[in-house]
Amino acid sequence: MSAFRPPHIPESEVTPKALYLKRRQIIGGAAGALALAASGEALAAPLTGKPTDYKVPDKLTPKKDVTTYNNFYEFGTDKSDPAANSGAFKPLPWSIEIGGLVAKPQKLSMDDIMKSFPMEQRIYRMRCVEAWSMVIPWIGFPLASLLDRVEPLGSAKYVAFETVVRPDQMPGQRGFFQPISWPYVDGLRMDEARNPLTLLATGLYDETLPNQNGAPIRLVVPWKYGFKGIKSIVKITLTEKEPPCTWNIIAPNEYGFYANVNPHVDHPRWSQATERRIGEDSGLFGGKRIDTLMFNGYADQVASMYTGMDLRKYF
Ligand code: MTE
Repeated sequence: MSAFRPPHIPESEVTPKALYLKRRQIIGGAAGALALAASGEALAAPLTGKPTDYKVPDKLTPKKDVTTYNNFYEFGTDKSDPAANSGAFKPLPWSIEIGGLVAKPQKLSMDDIMKSFPMEQRIYRMRCVEAWSMVIPWIGFPLASLLDRVEPLGSAKYVAFETVVRPDQMPGQRGFFQPISWPYVDGLRMDEARNPLTLLATGLYDETLPNQNGAPIRLVVPWKYGFKGIKSIVKITLTEKEPPCTWNIIAPNEYGFYANVNPHVDHPRWSQATERRIGEDSGLFGGKRIDTLMFNGYADQVASMYTGMDLRKYF
């Protein structure tokens, strides 16, 4: 898709120059490794985000919007709740358990992850099922690299993800009204999980992931609706059967397992043909909308995974 290999956006546009230079020094050589080792889990990890070819020509969504207009029901159901209510959440220390149908199950700390996987900076279009979108410079690494490390068995067909449960730090998980049966869960088919576009993100813009965006580590799948991007992951399990997904459990007629961005298949209650870019002038009456692209513009990279599937049935 022509829109996918866009003009180069200089990293200086995304990252303040001083940070970028510092980042270069940090990546470089043994001194960098030592600095990481000595700094414990409080390290400013995503400073190692190396720019890549994964970019789009679209204007970046201002960081202010990316970090204040969020869905993260563990902190409340309004878009402003996650930024307002996630201050007490402690993303470090952290570890992820990776198991199920693998030869080498492991428990990795964030330190292990930052040392083992080189971080990349990728600019992705993100499209929410609620028909708004953003363009976000993520910092992260391909999920496939993590899967390689645990050596999936031949019987592993899906990857299941689970978010942390911490009612003491997540106000949305306590109290009378519980919109979701915790933990928040989601999953991908193995080929989707291994697709080079699929990232585990540890930062955005020039920061480690803010709490409201899924600190310290979350999934980013740019050709799927935003709800597949499960946040604050503590468990990854390789399975033979299709894993449960929170929104599919809540409303199976509205949210399917696949959740691929598709302007031709409407949500039962609204159209998916167009979208509103957050942070951009949406016109005098909020009416200016842009066309939604098949697979959110990533058809060249992902369409072949769904050849022969009826996308109206597998929505
Ligand atoms: N992950 C968890 N654990 N809890 C959630 O409520 N919301 C999802 C997804 N991941 C959610 C979640 C939805 S609906 C969206 S649109 C994206 O997170 C939003 O990610 P962002 O806030 O980083 O844009």
